Amino acid sequence: MKKASNVFNENKLLIIGLVVLIVVLGFALVVLAIGKAGAPSNIGKVNALAESQDECVVCHRKDTPGIVDQYGHSSMAAADVKCVDCHEVAADYPGAVEHEGVNVLQSPTVAMCQKCHEDEVAQYLHSRHALPAYVSYAGSDGLTAEQLDEYQAIPEGDFDPQKARNAIYALEGPEITRFACESCHDIGKPSVDGSTGQCQKCHLRHEFSLTQARKPETCNNCHIGPDHPQWEIYFESSHGIAYSTMGDTWNWEADPGTLGVDDFPAPTCAICHMSGFGRTPTSHDVGDRLTWFLTAQVSMRRPSWEANMKKMQSVCRECHNENFIAEFYQAADDATEAVNSLVRQADEIIQPLKDKNLLTSAPFDEPVDFVYFENWHHWGRTAKFGVWMQGADYTQWHGAYEMLSDLADLNQIGDEKLNTANP
Ligand code: HEC
Ligand code: HEC
Ligand code: HEC
Ligand code: HEC
Ligand code: HEC
Ligand code: HEC
Ligand code: HEC
Ligand code: HEC
Repeated sequence: MKKASNVFNENKLLIIGLVVLIVVLGFALVVLAIGKAGAPSNIGKVNALAESQDECVVCHRKDTPGIVDQYGHSSMAAADVKCVDCHEVAADYPGAVEHEGVNVLQSPTVAMCQKCHEDEVAQYLHSRHALPAYVSYAGSDGLTAEQLDEYQAIPEGDFDPQKARNAIYALEGPEITRFACESCHDIGKPSVDGSTGQCQKCHLRHEFSLTQARKPETCNNCHIGPDHPQWEIYFESSHGIAYSTMGDTWNWEADPGTLGVDDFPAPTCAICHMSGFGRTPTSHDVGDRLTWFLTAQVSMRRPSWEANMKKMQSVCRECHNENFIAEFYQAADDATEAVNSLVRQADEIIQPLKDKNLLTSAPFDEPVDFVYFENWHHWGRTAKFGVWMQGADYTQWHGAYEMLSDLADLNQIGDEKLNTANP
């Protein structure tokens, strides 16, 4: 039998235990609440379609709940833009499929967006993200007269739009290129209704989120790899370091046109190339702020380079002073010319071989073709991009150094071929 005092002691312990438990639980709840308040704002974003009785929404809530949920959290749904505004077309519209008593497009085209976003579409159509991206692999033969005009209105530089572009495309064949060239370059592909491009390459459906479009990961879909490593370069730069280490504290959802240094202390790809930032207006023409055709074998100035430079520099000027930027541009121009001259050296080695018919006429059928190509197409470009976007390792070891190494190889191959031809 237990003593009375023991029973009393056990009860006291139980009560103390309960009090401690309640205090601990209460504390945990407070911590949780503070944590919630500091969480990213979009987690608490309202679902504009939660109560919607729209026919498409009601059925698709069951059939494809993901699409309805994502669209519900978009600012377009909040602004009362409906599924049918993008999807519904007349029965005779190119690409229309009959669906639940109406006609819909499976993949809404730029013509649909254009109804409400005329300016963005006009700028985009004047950019190299439109037809030039597509012509890069498909050539311009299949374009309508109207599309050809649209294409030719976009600055090209004096590299020939058709020349040798399709060589690798044709060599690899459609089984591969569908998942390669086309996946990236279809950003500018004409649709069945004749309108050009795919906004959804950057604005992932169905959230159409500004946060997502403004992040460098969006561009990483295509601007990556040995021939255009802008992604890798950015992450190596001070700007990219600021993004990687502090980006989660930036104001990603700032309204278009209000974005400035209060929101972003360092730029992403979009800030330098597209966004309205401080005093600079937004543009969907990604060529609008560029001075050089850096992608070209030998880089040359763009037709309106001086006006373009002012626009890019006005972005830099939100954070850097005038001298800093002027000196940077001067040094980067000099480096661009220096890379041009390394590219020209390769031509000087190859030209005598061409003159003496010592190269086969077929493209990419002997090692020398690859060495020559990679010299400008991979390393030359990479060196230039590294300079302009502050990626020292890419300018150096993935750029200029590789060029020196390729030039040595080309010299040796050239000498051997000349010696064999004239022993
Ligand atoms: C009664 C149910 C129902 C209604 C109403 C409905 N849908 Fe659908 N929808 C479906 C189903 C089921 C599919 C097929 C889904 C699948 O293949 O997984 C579909 C497919 C689609 C597709 C893809 C078509 C394709 O061929 O790939 C689109 C686009 C679409 N719906 C849009 C709409 C729009 C816009 C509305 C409103 C006008 C709408 N739907 C109304 C049930 C519905
Ligand atoms: C702002 C324009 C826009 C609105 C509004 C819109 N969509 Fe779409 N939707 C698109 C685009 C663009 C695609 C094609 C994406 C692609 O081809 O990569 C698409 C594709 C689809 C598809 C086929 C692709 C798939 O993943 O199954 C379905 C189904 C669909 N939408 C349903 C809906 C429904 C339901 C709504 C309303 C809740 C809606 N969409 C609202 C632009 C829109
Ligand atoms: C019926 C008109 C309409 C159509 C069609 C339409 N939009 Fe919109 N869109 C709007 C409106 C209105 C807003 C503004 C929402 C706001 O400011 O809150 C908007 C905003 C946006 C935004 C900015 C989102 C944000 O958070 O501010 C993007 C991106 C966008 N639209 C892309 C598209 C694309 C891509 C298409 C075609 C596939 C398209 N829209 C079709 C009316 C439309
Ligand atoms: C990972 C995405 C991606 C793949 C795959 C890809 N490209 Fe590109 N391509 C790009 C990007 C991005 C540029 C622009 C580079 C720049 O401006 O720095 C480009 C530039 C080009 C250019 C120079 C621009 C012009 O219009 O003259 C050509 C030509 C080209 N690509 C053809 C091809 C061909 C042919 C293939 C397949 C054999 C291919 N690309 C595969 C992303 C890609
Ligand atoms: C190369 C990527 C890219 C493509 C392609 C693209 N956008 Fe955008 N878009 C962006 C970025 C980045 C922003 C955010 C701009 C900012 O920071 O204010 C944006 C913003 C917008 C906005 C919000 C208003 C504004 O001007 O800031 C609309 C509307 C829009 N895009 C429509 C479109 C339409 C329509 C298309 C197709 C014709 C399209 N976009 C293609 C990257 C893209
Ligand atoms: C789906 C693939 C794709 C995505 C995503 C993409 N681009 Fe591009 N981009 C291309 C291709 C392809 C080209 C080359 C087109 C040509 O010159 O023929 C290009 C060219 C460019 C150019 C050079 C334009 C010129 O006039 O020479 C810039 C700058 C650029 N992109 C910036 C961006 C930024 C910033 C983003 C992200 C917000 C982005 N791109 C997203 C495929 C893409
Ligand atoms: C600090 C601003 C800044 C940032 C951030 C930035 N860029 Fe650039 N980018 C530039 C400048 C400056 C040039 C060269 C401009 C010129 O020709 O005058 C350039 C050149 C380019 C080109 C080459 C265009 C051509 O002529 O072929 C592409 C493509 C490009 N950037 C894409 C990107 C992508 C993708 C990102 C992010 C991963 C990015 N940029 C980040 C400033 C920036
Ligand atoms: C939103 C602010 C912002 C904008 C816009 C911006 N930068 Fe920067 N930049 C920074 C910050 C922050 C740093 C890191 C400063 C440091 O090293 O302490 C930086 C560093 C640099 C550096 C030094 C890199 C190094 O490794 O030493 C260069 C060069 C530079 N920026 C060029 C540019 C150019 C060119 C532009 C415009 C095309 C530009 N920046 C636009 C914020 C910005």
